[in-house]
Amino acid sequence: MIQLQAIEKYFGEAHVLRGITLEIKKGEFVAITGSSGSGKSTLLNLIGGMDRPDAGKIIVDGSEISAYSDEQLTLHRRQKIGFVFQFFNLLPNISIFDNVRIPLLLNNISSPERAYWCLERVGLAGRDRSYPWQLSGGEQQRVALARALVGDPEILLADEPTGSLDSRTGARILELLEEISAESSGTIILVTHEEYVARHADRTIRISDGVILI
Ligand SMILES: Nc1ncnc2c1ncn2[C@@H]1O[C@H](COP(=O)(O)OP(=O)(O)OP(=O)(O)O)[C@@H](O)[C@H]1O
Ligand SMILES: [Mg+2]
Repeated sequence: MIQLQAIEKYFGEAHVLRGITLEIKKGEFVAITGSSGSGKSTLLNLIGGMDRPDAGKIIVDGSEISAYSDEQLTLHRRQKIGFVFQFFNLLPNISIFDNVRIPLLLNNISSPERAYWCLERVGLAGRDRSYPWQLSGGEQQRVALARALVGDPEILLADEPTGSLDSRTGARILELLEEISAESSGTIILVTHEEYVARHADRTIRISDGVILI
């Protein structure tokens, strides 16, 4: 379970998150929607331990991650979180297989089978020796999804994962997220500014100017 209590976040003078309180249950597939600049990515980055709030508490599985040291936050990211971004963020000079394996190596796990299994799960069996530039955008995003899933994270964070894909390719990624949500116990948080993308999730949280709309 993820709990955010009275979260405030500033960037300089800009008051970007203003008293965000919310709860996301284990296993939920939640969409966070809102217009550009409303604070969606900022919120996701706080949950993922990539940034810290200026006030308020973030509690993940009973642990207050907002009080973690840098080292503890790094472990939180590595062990509990999988990330998918709009522009895939694959490393260009290593193979698909090595891209997918990165999170395992960071956790000192050598399990090639797991990486192959994840590639198969996203429909890319046999492409392991290819390089990112040899794949279409949709295929690259499926590699990013395999990389995010390889460590079996409790929480999958996806920030506009379909934002740079055409609608059909994007729909396939969203269907994959739905399937993964149904077959695993993990939580999925999907950030999007598109209502039709949010409809793939079980629940939508709307944010406007750093405030949750109810
Ligand atoms: N690292 C940063 N430094 C300064 N300002 C920032 C930083 N990150 C975000 N902001 C500002 O905080 C506000 C919220 O940004 P955020 O990226 O969370 O919005 P968003 O809802 O994800 O928007 P988009 O849909 O365009 O991705 C914006 O005004 C942005 O300029
Ligand atoms: Mg954003």
